[in-house]
Amino acid sequence: MKIGVVGATGAVGEAFMDILERRKFPIDELRAFASEKSEGLNVKSCGREWPVQSLREGCFDGLDLVFFSSGDNISREWAPKAVESGAFAVDNSAAFRMNPDYALVVPEVNSNRLPSRKNPTIIANPNCSTIQLVVALSALRPFGLTDVRVATYQAVSGAGKSGKEELLAQTHEHLHAQMRGGEFAQKLTNEPKVFPHEIAFNCIPQIGSFNENGFCTEEMKITNETRKILEMPKLKVSAFTVRVPALNSHSEAVWVTFERRVSKEEIMSAFEKGAGLRLFSQSTDTTHYPTARMASGEFPVFVGRVHQDLNDPHTWLFWVVADNVLKGAALNGLQIAEQIFKQ
Ligand SMILES: NC(=O)c1ccc[n+]([C@@H]2O[C@H](COP(=O)([O-])OP(=O)(O)OC[C@H]3O[C@@H](n4cnc5c(N)ncnc54)[C@H](OP(=O)(O)O)[C@@H]3O)[C@@H](O)[C@H]2O)c1
Repeated sequence: MKIGVVGATGAVGEAFMDILERRKFPIDELRAFASEKSEGLNVKSCGREWPVQSLREGCFDGLDLVFFSSGDNISREWAPKAVESGAFAVDNSAAFRMNPDYALVVPEVNSNRLPSRKNPTIIANPNCSTIQLVVALSALRPFGLTDVRVATYQAVSGAGKSGKEELLAQTHEHLHAQMRGGEFAQKLTNEPKVFPHEIAFNCIPQIGSFNENGFCTEEMKITNETRKILEMPKLKVSAFTVRVPALNSHSEAVWVTFERRVSKEEIMSAFEKGAGLRLFSQSTDTTHYPTARMASGEFPVFVGRVHQDLNDPHTWLFWVVADNVLKGAALNGLQIAEQIFKQ
């Protein structure tokens, strides 16, 4: 196949380079795109180096498929051009997610929404924290979901390469200050640029900007995208998103209320059989639950700490962890492509 990766030098782009190789995607040609400042660089994938080029008219000619991970504006302008030139556009940005004309797909949940191989179009990849949530919720749908509440603990890689760099640089400065006898550096050289406050040794209850109701963008993405993917427009979904100083992988504490009483055995069995899920049971080891560090670099969505709410027997709590640049972005996009082209 002849494919393009727009944003090839970014956090998600690098994850694409990794998984194209790990999943042995059949590549004849890989056109890597980034901003003009990256022209002249090479990216490595599938045992070869591919030169990075910038976007220009006609740059997608002859490609079968283009992955986009360069932000909303680039996708809005260039994804339709990829489709005009005859390629599928799998888009990681938020540009087309809530547009009713385009499918928003997590293959384990709603692959029935994927277009036929004969009709190139744009397919939207959901927001990273939504993907891991809906993979877990999908396993529980037979019990009748009525209410979903989620608190997220999101890694800095969710804000791209510069998010990771900011956490590492600030941590470095504070550790140096400690070695010199202080607790924290008083004035950082690496002041917050990516995040609204210092992220080192901190938690920030804001991802994106706030709306008039006090919800931030990330919280509204989780609410709206979950409803669209599960095709449950009235499902009660409430999210509270927090950026934490983890380098990679998002973690979520989830409360789900069902229409009927459900036993722990039923829930554990549903998670065990759930597509794309790996369940951690605490039956022999109480410390056996997934963490962000162990999920990094892995493909599944991990679930653990399943227990019933003390006040409401219809409500269950659990913990969901996944690699946000893999299952939350590049892997989900590649799975979409795999499903379309295997038809
Ligand atoms: N990180 C995640 O966990 C995650 C998860 C789901 C979805 N996403 C979405 O994926 C997209 C990329 O995120 P990221 O985390 O990979 O960000 P990132 O690390 O900041 O990477 C951004 C990429 O976009 C490229 N770019 C910037 N300006 C460009 C231009 N004018 N033309 C072509 N390419 C350009 C950059 O190239 P240069 O290196 O040349 O600047 C870089 O390759 C965003 O829409 C984000 O919302 C991210």
